[in-house]
Amino acid sequence: MKHFLRILLGKVLPASLRRRLGLLKNSAEAGLCKIPVLGQAHWSSKVKTIEQTPFQVNIEVTSICNAKCIMCPRHLMDRKMQVMPWDLFTKVILESKEIGVNRFALNGYGEIFTAKKDYKKYINYLFEHIPHARVIINSNGSLLDDDAARFIIEKGVDTVHCDIDGATKETFEIVREKLNFDDVVKNIRNLVKVRNELGKSFPKVRVGMIAQKENQHELQAHHDMWTGIADYVQSDYMVSRAGTIETFHGNIDVDRPCSLIWFEMNIYTNGEVVLCCDDWNNKEVMGNILNETIVEVWKGKKFNDYRKKHQEGKACEISLCAKCDFARPGPDWFQARRYSNAS
Ligand SMILES: C[S@@+](CC[C@H](N)C(=O)[O-])C[C@H]1O[C@@H](n2cnc3c(N)ncnc32)[C@H](O)[C@@H]1O
Ligand code: SF4
Repeated sequence: MKHFLRILLGKVLPASLRRRLGLLKNSAEAGLCKIPVLGQAHWSSKVKTIEQTPFQVNIEVTSICNAKCIMCPRHLMDRKMQVMPWDLFTKVILESKEIGVNRFALNGYGEIFTAKKDYKKYINYLFEHIPHARVIINSNGSLLDDDAARFIIEKGVDTVHCDIDGATKETFEIVREKLNFDDVVKNIRNLVKVRNELGKSFPKVRVGMIAQKENQHELQAHHDMWTGIADYVQSDYMVSRAGTIETFHGNIDVDRPCSLIWFEMNIYTNGEVVLCCDDWNNKEVMGNILNETIVEVWKGKKFNDYRKKHQEGKACEISLCAKCDFARPGPDWFQARRYSNAS
């Protein structure tokens, strides 16, 4: 406990961990501006290869949510709150199959289990067409009841990630406004119990906490509470969602290239493909799957122009990226991609 208090004071943890927990006050402390700086030309040479297809496709099955979390801007969205039209979903799945994408995260800015009438149909379709798909579900856990748990276990969903943003009812319900702590805890415990009783290993259950000033005093209690139950217990630092939410770790070096735009494609319920998952209000739209293919958008001029800006160290010229505080990986990530994806 004493040790933990020192962590909170930020005196003993390495910057990398404090950054993950959002405990850094500014970019200088984060050390991100001081990374052994590669010159811009050097960066460019690391990021020569543009992948032919996304590694992962994030599908916003619904933009409807039953919560109003204080660190999530989704209730301010301009776009329609709706379940993704069926024809659009099936197009995404069939195209993904054709181009060999088999990794999906079924969320954007909504809660999949609010789509009570639809989520089974959508997940069934996905596995019917791509049986070996690796499917990740981020859920707030509130509607993940016994029936939903048995369904996703039977389907072979790979991972359920549930952020439970407090170790006590009081704190949790301040952060995850509109949700009930006891229901969420019961549902996640039940998911693990049923999975184990059925002798299955999946889904792996990852319980996290988005560390912020309202709950950081409960980080240790949260860790203790879920250790031995969840397969992974991992706290994440809060991001500003490109400058919308106030965070307390300050800016990072925004000119560093961001791996997300080489890695995953985010498709919203209206078909729009946005630059990255932080673009909650679709400010930087790369294309629309209603009238383009996944590959056309992914390899399209607009996406590539944005990647080029990142390569050239000019990410701050993109208004979304200029305000982003997502921790961007170092040169190793790009180095590895260069060799593993060379075409
Ligand atoms: C936008 S939510 C959508 C899925 C689902 N409704 C949920 O809460 O898990 C996706 C993920 O973003 C996380 N999240 C929300 N606001 C965040 C923030 N400001 N910084 C970092 N992660 C955040 C949530 O905890 C969740 O794991
Ligand atoms: S974090 Fe998830 S549960 Fe909370 S409001 Fe956003 S989409 Fe809904």
